[in-house]
Amino acid sequence: MRIGILTGGGDCPGLNAVIRAVVLTAELRHGDEVIGYLDGWKGVLDDVSVPLDVVRCRDILALGGTILGTSRTNPFKIEDGPERVRANLMNGGVDALVAVGGEDTLGVAQRLGDHGVSAVGIPKTIDNDLSGTEVTFGFDTAVQIATEAIDRLRTTAESHHRVIVCEVMGRNVGWIATHAGIAGGAAEILVPEVPFDVEAVCERLQRRHRGGQFSSIVVVSEGAVPAARHDADPSPAVTSNTPGAPVDQFGHARLGGIGAWLAEEIERRTGFEARVTILGHIQRGGTPSAFDRVLATRFGVAAVGAVHDGDYGMMVALQCGEIVRIPIADAVAQSKTVDRDLYGAVADVFLG
Ligand code: F6P
Repeated sequence: MRIGILTGGGDCPGLNAVIRAVVLTAELRHGDEVIGYLDGWKGVLDDVSVPLDVVRCRDILALGGTILGTSRTNPFKIEDGPERVRANLMNGGVDALVAVGGEDTLGVAQRLGDHGVSAVGIPKTIDNDLSGTEVTFGFDTAVQIATEAIDRLRTTAESHHRVIVCEVMGRNVGWIATHAGIAGGAAEILVPEVPFDVEAVCERLQRRHRGGQFSSIVVVSEGAVPAARHDADPSPAVTSNTPGAPVDQFGHARLGGIGAWLAEEIERRTGFEARVTILGHIQRGGTPSAFDRVLATRFGVAAVGAVHDGDYGMMVALQCGEIVRIPIADAVAQSKTVDRDLYGAVADVFLG
């Protein structure tokens, strides 16, 4: 077979591991030929690809980013986009496409099925917001990076008796915040799923101080919103903290800024000295954790298996430790939000 592969959306650690797994499995197990489209769906639209083989994939397992590049191009926002994708795949003799991405990239793969494109999906994202899979690769590394940052922030916060607000990524879900916050022993974990009351946050910080804890780490998701603002407008757009920032071709606003606002509010309301650290793209860069390398490798092997079974429109997923196939449509139907039991239990016992 001739298989195409692309990586779309925000990059994450483990993308090169998954490319390597697809190429090695396709070539060594099945004698397939693999080409890589550059910069996500843009590469398929513009018909820009590179040959991929075992030699090209040497030494990329631990490499961050993606050797194929990525973009947030949406063929459905471009005139004749789906037809161009289909024509380019056909003219290039590509039998099947492996799309590696999050809800946007995989949503396109699923819709292209109706336009005659044979695609299999692989889930990736640091946000961990895809349904149907317990975890996406990239998430574990992002949590590890955020946890290490919190550990470092804690020692300087303690020295100066400060509150440090640490803003993490995750878009409209609080998986990174919840896991890194638990692992880093944060005093507060604020997630988009649960609008927060800034006055209540300040009261809890004051109670900690009265109890002899003169420093606190507050982890806040970039998409978290104060309850007052949420009640005024509960639409997702309200989570955009950068007024006027452009939205991408999938309609996502650029998030960020809630941490700075919160640190200022905490200082103003409590009198405690407060600082903010925005982790930003540091969470997405660099080498993948061992867990993400293994998961990406397992996903890559399984995706080639799905291609050879002709199981198109499916995404490989992790369920109960096993790699399974689920319809891409199920994975992208709705975001996987933070487990309320986990968040609730942590909030009851460990926060404040
Ligand atoms: O979806 C991954 C992610 O890193 C989100 O957590 C974040 O909101 C967004 O991408 C940032 O996108 P960009 O790299 O375009 O700024």
